[in-house]
Amino acid sequence: MDNAALGNDMSAVIEADRAHLWHHLIQHKPFETIDPRVIVEGRGMRVWDARGKEHLDAVSGGVWTVNVGYGRESIADAVRDQLVKMCYFAGSAGSVPGAMFARRLIDKMPGMARVYYANSGSEANEKVFKMVRQISHRHHGGRKSKILFRERDYHGTTITCLSAGGQPQRNAMYGPFTPGFVEVPHCLEYRKQWDVANYGERAADAIEEVILREGPDTIGAICLEPVTAGGGVIVPPAGYWERVQEICRKHNILIHIDEVVCGVGRTGEWFGYQNYGVKPDFVTMAKGVASGYAAIACTVTTEAVFGMFKDDASDPLSYFRDISTFGGCASGPAAALENMRIIEDEGLLDNTLRMGARLMDNLAALQDKHAVIGQVRGKGLFCGAELVADRATKEAADEKKVAAVVADCMAQGVIIGMTNRSLPGLNNTLCLSPALIATPDDIDHITDAIDGALGRVFG
Ligand SMILES: Cc1ncc(COP(=O)(O)O)c(C=O)c1O
Repeated sequence: MDNAALGNDMSAVIEADRAHLWHHLIQHKPFETIDPRVIVEGRGMRVWDARGKEHLDAVSGGVWTVNVGYGRESIADAVRDQLVKMCYFAGSAGSVPGAMFARRLIDKMPGMARVYYANSGSEANEKVFKMVRQISHRHHGGRKSKILFRERDYHGTTITCLSAGGQPQRNAMYGPFTPGFVEVPHCLEYRKQWDVANYGERAADAIEEVILREGPDTIGAICLEPVTAGGGVIVPPAGYWERVQEICRKHNILIHIDEVVCGVGRTGEWFGYQNYGVKPDFVTMAKGVASGYAAIACTVTTEAVFGMFKDDASDPLSYFRDISTFGGCASGPAAALENMRIIEDEGLLDNTLRMGARLMDNLAALQDKHAVIGQVRGKGLFCGAELVADRATKEAADEKKVAAVVADCMAQGVIIGMTNRSLPGLNNTLCLSPALIATPDDIDHITDAIDGALGRVFG
C-alpha cells in the first residue's frame, strides 16, 4: 500500500501501528483489545485523532514540547527552505542557521557563550557529563569527577542519564548504572523532610551536607532542573537557588541547569533559571527549542568552560572529542530561529505569565472545591496539582484514580498529564503545560474539564 492510501485509510494505519509500532512509555497489552492512539493532525492548541475526534492539548504534545502550537507554516517553510539549500553537514563545520541561532540564543542568556548542538535532551545532558569528566582529568588530576543530581529530577533516558536520575521507577531494572553520580535530597516543601521556617535554605544546605560527606574535592558539578518537571512539578522554595549557588561557588562545583522542559519560554522567562538569578556554567535544552518541528538540543556553556577545552592546541586530546551525527542537521537551528521569532513577535512570554496566573487561579479555585487537591504548584504555563486521599496526612491519592481523572478529561476531549512511573506511591500529580499561545477560554476549558473529572472520579 502506498503512503497516500495509508494516510486516507485509518483502519490500515491502526492495524500497522498495532502490528509493528512500539510506543514509548506505555503498556501494550491493552492494545490487543483497544486501538492504540494515533494523532493525525494539529492546529494551534488542538489535535485530532484517527477517529477524527478533536482534543484540546493541555500538555503541548504530551511532554511539554510544542510551545508555539501546531500547524506553524512559517516554521515548516523555514525548515523546507533550509533542507533544499543545505540539509546536513557534520558539526565539525558550521551552518548558516547553526551560527545565527547560536547568536540569538546567547543574546537571551547573559553570561553564557558557546552552543553545542545535539538532538535530544538526554544527549545534551550527556555532553555535560562528558565535559565535567574531561575537565576533571585535564584540570584536576582526576579529582572532581563526581556529579550530584537531585531526588525526583529526571535528566534523560540513556543509562548515564538514568544514573543521574532521581526517579526510582524510571531506573528500576536498568542498572547497573554509571558510577560517580551522587543523589541529593529533593526540595518539595509539601513533602517536607525538615521542620523549619526557611525551607529553601535548609533544602540547599542538605546539598552541602552531601558535598561534605563525599568530599568537595571529589565533586565536579551539580545537575538540577530549575523547576522539576516529571518528578511532580516542583517549584523550588524561596531562598533555595541563591543558597545552592553560594554553596557551589564555595566548593568550586560547576552548575549544570537542565532546561529541557523549562527552556524557551515555558515559565514566562526564556529559561527557568532566569527566575532565580542563577549564573550557570552549563545549560541544556531541547523540547521547546524548536517546539518539536525539528529535533534539536543544545548544550550551552560559559566562555570559561569552553576555554578549558582549547588551552593546548599541541595536545591531540585537549579538545572536546565528541560528535553527534544529527547535531549537524541544519533543520534544527532553522526551526529554532523561527520558533524564537514567533515567541518574540507574538509576545508569548507575556502571554505565558498572564495565562499561567489564570491557570493557577483556576486551580486554586478547584482546590477550594475538591478536597482531593492537596497542593497546586506552578511557574508560568507549567503547573501541577497533587492529589491526596487525605489532606491532613497527605496520603497520596490512589494512582488508578489519578489516571481515571486523566482518562475522564481525555473522554471530554482535553488532554492532560500526570506524573508517570516516576516515584513509587507518588505518581499522584496532574501535570499541565499548555502551549504558550493559550487563550483565557483555553485555560478555562482545561480547568472546567478537570473540575468535572474530579467530581466524577472522587465524588
Ligand atoms: C528535565 C528533562 N531532562 C531531560 C529529558 C530528556 O530529554 P529527551 O527525551 O529529549 O532525551 C527530559 C525528557 O522528558 C526531561 O524532562
